[in-house]
Amino acid sequence: MAIEISDDGAVRTLRLARPEKKNALTGALYGALTEGLRAAGADGAIRVALVAGGVDFCAGNDIADFAQAGDGPSPAFALLETLAAFPKPLVMAVRGDAVGIGTTMLLHADAVVVSEAARLMLPFARLGVVPEGGSSLLLARRVGEARARWWLLSGDAISGAEAAASGLATRAGPDAEVEGAALAMARQLAALPPGAAAESKRLLNAPHAAALKAAMEAERESFSARLRTEEAQAAFAAFLGRR
Ligand code: COA
Repeated sequence: MAIEISDDGAVRTLRLARPEKKNALTGALYGALTEGLRAAGADGAIRVALVAGGVDFCAGNDIADFAQAGDGPSPAFALLETLAAFPKPLVMAVRGDAVGIGTTMLLHADAVVVSEAARLMLPFARLGVVPEGGSSLLLARRVGEARARWWLLSGDAISGAEAAASGLATRAGPDAEVEGAALAMARQLAALPPGAAAESKRLLNAPHAAALKAAMEAERESFSARLRTEEAQAAFAAFLGRR
């Protein structure tokens, strides 16, 4: 299972560990992360979850899996729904590349620390698919319509510094300090009275909860249909055949 789970007091770290593929998410990896989050959410001894990668955060959905997508629901959606409903503070530590869902999952975090050297990308349209993870709604809420539209349509890379300056991330810092800063923020949140932390998070989510649910359902329907289009299949084949 390419995920490592460890505890530091009441902070549960879930670390993606498929470095040779820049933590691209396969069905098994989605399942492990989703299960890990559900377990952290239900564990009374855990107050905060910290999602991290390694040298790279996550290169998005495994493209070979995309190319073979069948009629069943993509495991990506179960992960995204679990993230959106996560009841405790959620912190993410981003180094290196964060692509597709590797960036949209950040929109469900309460604190995100990025490396100044990180490279975030939302290449959905380039790949013949559409935004997911509620990003068609949440990205503009964080960074404004102008940036959200450009980033989601063009797929242009966003630097870590730009991510923090725009509000997509909470803080940017030197690569070597990202893990330490994220853990310090997670510990700080874990020291809060847990009931107040959970209720504050619920109130922060409440004003757009219904709109987010609707956006995620619409994205899911469109994304699932687009995976089988010629446009998407040609883009996946181009990636898989580029060597
Ligand atoms: N699915 C499957 N494999 C992936 C992957 C993905 N999403 N992202 C990276 N990899 C693999 C590469 O194929 C390569 O493996 P290989 O050496 O066995 O061929 C390895 O990870 C390293 O990636 P590489 O492309 O050599 O690194 P890079 O620094 O040149 O480029 C990216 C990094 C992330 C820009 C590039 O890999 C990429 O565009 N990946 C696809 C990202 C994507 O579109 N995700 C889906 C978003 S919806």
